[in-house]
Order: sequence, then C-alpha cells, then structure tokens
Amino acid sequence: MSDCNTRIIAPSVLASDWGKVGEEVRRADEAGADWLHLDVMDGHFVENISFGPQFVGAVRPHTELTLDVHLMITRPDKYLPMFIKAGADRITVHVEADHDVSATLKSIREAGLRCGLALNPATPFEDVVPYLDQIDLLLVMTVVPGFGGQSFMEKETMPKVAAAKEFREANGLAYHIEVDGGIDQETVKIAGENGANVMVAGTSLYGKPDMKSAIEEMRG
Ligand code: DX5
Ligand code: ZN
Repeated sequence: MSDCNTRIIAPSVLASDWGKVGEEVRRADEAGADWLHLDVMDGHFVENISFGPQFVGAVRPHTELTLDVHLMITRPDKYLPMFIKAGADRITVHVEADHDVSATLKSIREAGLRCGLALNPATPFEDVVPYLDQIDLLLVMTVVPGFGGQSFMEKETMPKVAAAKEFREANGLAYHIEVDGGIDQETVKIAGENGANVMVAGTSLYGKPDMKSAIEEMRG
C-alpha cells in the first residue's frame, strides 16, 4: 500500500479509445501508470452517461493495476455489489449523492476494498469533514464532473486540497488526496504543491502518443 506522500498517476479510461479498450488499458500499464481511473456516470448525478460494472469487468482481465472506480451516480449504495463483483480495487462515492455516506463507505471496506469520498467544486470542504476518519482517499474534483477535457478550476478547489492535507496531519489520519479533471503536466504541479498525491488525468495522458514520457513528466 503506497502512503499518502507518494505521487500516484492514474490515467482516466474515459479519455481512451473505447473501441480498443484492452489495448488502451495495456498501454497505460506499459507506460508506467500506477492506478487506472474508471469514471462511472449515470446521466442523473451528472449530465453524461459513461459505462457501468460490465465495462469495469471487461477492463479487469487486461491489467493488474489498481482499478480506482469513481462512481458519479446518485445511488452508489445500490450498485456497490456489482462494482465489487466486477473487480474494483477502490471505490469512491460522492458526498452529494443520495445515500447514507457512512454506511456506503463501511460496506466498501467490509468487502475488502479501499473506500474514497468525492466532493464537487461547489461543495464546501466542511461537508466531508464528518467522514474523513472513515476513508482511505478524498477526491477533490477539479472540474464539474461529467466530461473530460475541461479546464482546471484552481481557485475553487486548491484551498480544499490544502485544508484536507492540514486536517489529515492535525488528526493523524492517512487518506490519499486525489484530484480529477483538467490535470496536465502544468496543473499537476499546483495540485501537488497544495497537497494532492493521486493525479487522475485523461486527456493529458491518453491524448499523448507517448504516454510513458507524459506520465514521467507528471511525476515531476
Ligand atoms: C469527470 C471525469 C473527468 C476525467 C478526467 O468529468 O472524472 O474529470 O476523469 O478528464 P480530463 O483529464 O480529460 O480532464
Ligand atoms: Zn473521475
């Protein structure tokens, strides 16, 4: 288990060529990615529909990489068993979704997986504070979730990353701090300086012909 001071690079499969997903997953693996980030969208919690547990299951046999599943769905509790069965290693749910957050986080851990909690740019850091001692990862969204290729929202989100780091250290906790959305070889520096250590990137990694050097550059 990597600690929360190790930089982790997690390409987002959302930005890959789904028509050859096995090849694209292996490309990330061979390029030196640490985790693979899978963006699940239900067209209700966010204004887009991406893929579900069957797609996660299709990805699973192509890599040993940690599958970091990000549920941008209204009822993560209801669909949890399907993502666990599909082979997720980590499951992150949104604080804004319609569920008992603590119960969902507990269920993820009881299944032997690592649990994460995500908050959107408009959600205040205070909304996640009650759960910070129940998580393995905090995902601070750096775009409004739903689509790849958007711009990094520094002003709205970096203070929350810094607050999450401060809270973790002040309370002897050990959760990863992950950022997702508009992370490229430049914005990754800002996110790192503020305290993020897990960098999700779609466009800036899958959009590059040489993913290996793009990842190395992102490691800093
Ligand atoms: C939410 C998604 C995207 C994706 C990354 O919309 O979670 O943020 O992972 O997209 P890029 O790296 O292309 O902004
Ligand atoms: Zn994501």
